[in-house]
Amino acid sequence: MKHLTSLLDLSADDLLAVLDLAADLKRRFRQGDRPQLHPGRVLVQLFEKPSLRTRNSFEAAMIHLGGSGVFLSTDEAGLNGRESLSDIARVITSFADLITMRTFSQKLIEDFAAVAGCPVINGLSDERHPCQALTDLLTIRELRGNLADQHLVFVGDGNNVSMSLAIAAAMTGMQMTLAAPVGFEFSEEFQSLLVQRFPAHRVALSNDPHAAVNDATLVYTDVWASMGQEGDADRRMKAFADFQVNEQLMTAAPRDALFMHDLPAKRGLEVTDAVMDSPASVVFQQAENRMHLARGLFAWLLRSGSA
Ligand code: CP
Ligand code: NVA
Repeated sequence: MKHLTSLLDLSADDLLAVLDLAADLKRRFRQGDRPQLHPGRVLVQLFEKPSLRTRNSFEAAMIHLGGSGVFLSTDEAGLNGRESLSDIARVITSFADLITMRTFSQKLIEDFAAVAGCPVINGLSDERHPCQALTDLLTIRELRGNLADQHLVFVGDGNNVSMSLAIAAAMTGMQMTLAAPVGFEFSEEFQSLLVQRFPAHRVALSNDPHAAVNDATLVYTDVWASMGQEGDADRRMKAFADFQVNEQLMTAAPRDALFMHDLPAKRGLEVTDAVMDSPASVVFQQAENRMHLARGLFAWLLRSGSA
């Protein structure tokens, strides 16, 4: 049975199969064709953190496939210590066909998946956001035709989103640079994981955002303080002050570089209104594609006979 706790759960071929299926389903959707490929299937969502895009795109995707979704917050799921994680997993998976989870701890999703009786999909943890990265690959392919010619420069934190993008880049041969303030780069542990899993691929690191975007085809950013880091927000605002994606930074990038953001954005902090609302910005295409990617991913997991 396949899970998606991290992109590393997929082979490179699996990843491309999911993207191809999502792209095909999106094309058909645009033509008014919404095939109910998996009628009656039930998605259960266990979320410890808020979500607009992930929660609702997952639910919409399941409805479009002919199924339905159930949503459980921390307390409703019993993730507050009401009962053991393995008992929750055994109970929930006995009546679900797919599970999505949004947690603080990556290990919690992995522990849940280890005892789950149906596929478990990571809808964001402190360390990973694989569905966002898959969606971004889908969006980049739509806009640029291929991934291999692209150089994604992530200006910001070495966080869940940038770590999943780094794995996505390594799996697809896309060039990536993380431009982060000192102390906010990828951890040594994550860099070692990348080297170990992808010895032929190198993700570049920089502390100079202007130099880093010099040959970017895509400039990507995310919030400076992720969910759970609110108490550290003041320190982070100071540390990231020179890493705002504004018109000046975009001017340092090639003229046709696109701007990407997973959203939600803190306008005026990591990105200005002028960049968010510029013709170079593809942020709402990314957001829309969350639902198309989810349909492709769910259909692939359910179709693979694993559910
Ligand atoms: N990009 C993303 O995951 O958004 P939400 O937090 O709204 O789900
Ligand atoms: N890095 C952000 C992503 C939100 C979609 C967070 O974890 O809050």
